[in-house]
Amino acid sequence: MRILFVSSEAYPLIKTGGLADVSGSLPAALQQRGVDVRILIPGYPAVLEKLQNSRPVATLQHLPLIGTAELILGEMPDTGVPVLAIQCPGLYQRAGGPYIDAGGRDWEDNPLRFGILSRIAALLGSPDTPLQDWQPDIVHCNDWQTGLVPAYMRFMRKPCAKSLISLHNMAFQGCYPPSWVERLGLPGESYQMEGLEYHQQMSFLKAGIFYADGISTVSPSYAREIQTETFGFGMQGLLAKRSHDIRGILNGIETEEWNPANDPHLVNPYDANHLAAKKTVKKALQAAQGLQQDAQAPLLGVVSRLTYQKGLDVFLSIAAPLVEQGCQIVVLGGGDAGMEAGFRDLATRYPQRVSVTIGYNEPLSHQIMAGADMFIMPSRFEPCGLNQMYGLRYGTPPIVTRTGGLADSVIDSNDTTLANHTASGFVIEHADAGQLHDAINRACAYYADSKTWRKIQRNGMRLDLGWDHSAQAYLDLYAHLLRD
Ligand code: ADP
Ligand code: GLC
Repeated sequence: MRILFVSSEAYPLIKTGGLADVSGSLPAALQQRGVDVRILIPGYPAVLEKLQNSRPVATLQHLPLIGTAELILGEMPDTGVPVLAIQCPGLYQRAGGPYIDAGGRDWEDNPLRFGILSRIAALLGSPDTPLQDWQPDIVHCNDWQTGLVPAYMRFMRKPCAKSLISLHNMAFQGCYPPSWVERLGLPGESYQMEGLEYHQQMSFLKAGIFYADGISTVSPSYAREIQTETFGFGMQGLLAKRSHDIRGILNGIETEEWNPANDPHLVNPYDANHLAAKKTVKKALQAAQGLQQDAQAPLLGVVSRLTYQKGLDVFLSIAAPLVEQGCQIVVLGGGDAGMEAGFRDLATRYPQRVSVTIGYNEPLSHQIMAGADMFIMPSRFEPCGLNQMYGLRYGTPPIVTRTGGLADSVIDSNDTTLANHTASGFVIEHADAGQLHDAINRACAYYADSKTWRKIQRNGMRLDLGWDHSAQAYLDLYAHLLRD
């Protein structure tokens, strides 16, 4: 089976969030199961720089607005998964992030940048492909940046590969003025309610949901939630209509990259049977972050985009009382300017008990995951969430809301779940200050009882969080799409 996996980011080439983790690790898991998979990604500077053994393989012609682009074939640094990168300096080779410029504004030509990504993916999945020796059976799209792929394939009116779109976040919908329909070479007839029109704009995401042969979400709970008004971000009706085509498959994690027993970023390796060494990691983290060397103080960790989705404003609102009652806090993240300022103020107020690092820092993210005692993730919605799973794997019980992938991966600790060995973290119903404070207090009470705490840690650390199960679920879904 041949799969073209299309994504706007993939670790370790380029990453802004969990989509990159999944786009790096799922294709590798598929490859291990015998799938002939290639990743298609824009050729940002970091991508072209990090690709191994790369060489040009084709020139694409007659692309809307830009004319030509080169296709480079290379390999992922660690896994060797083949990668097709689109070399188009005018679109992708610039300083800044994949979606935003250095000032934090969306690139104005994003509809073109991701329209071209989609167009090229569709070409590769069609009889007009420039790669005569490799044609996919399925084009696996991810999020709005690839949403036009199924639309392009549909309107080619030729026998194309099947399409699957994975929904990682309904909050980002790629909505642009309708003039883009024609500019991107899509037929006028596609711009209607039964198509890619969405509130008088064209929506990449809606196009994907409307035209794809199959739809998946990154957790079973999220598959149900997005069919409701609260989580569907306006697309719940369309999703409910396609209900029978939607599969919820929980993300796995890359268990080698995220392995406390073998993590080059930690001063000390540890595992479920050697938890004492985790204390050394905590001590090193406290020292590096200028926090008081207090082994007893519950250290609450945050690694996150600081946005409304993540509910960390709720955590910020109770942070001072938590510090006053003896907790320490270590935060790594960036995003919303107000939240960044709020966390910075907190660190200024409690220099020895709160450390805040604004920005993106991979080594520190591993050190917090390992050195913290509890991981705080009170998301308002969370399609899957990977950080709570990293927390589980690192013996850092996550404190989460019962939503999306958080609900599907963390089990609240109480007498019953402790007795049946499933307790792995702490779960609240909503991102609410009172509930979160209560849950942290509950966690602190268990933490003070080190024997029980170790049980909770070990339950999480022993979970099978790798891709085995979920990669098989994707294989089943691909097979199902090919049968239809
Ligand atoms: P989302 O993709 O919604 O941001 P996930 O939990 O799925 O949330 O994935 C987030 C990923 O990004 C994780 O791998 C996490 O470690 C990483 N991450 C988030 N913020 C930072 C940061 N400031 N520095 C380093 N890594 C970060
Ligand atoms: C999105 C979601 C996150 C999910 C990730 C990978 O970024 O916000 O919940 O884990 O995609 O699927």
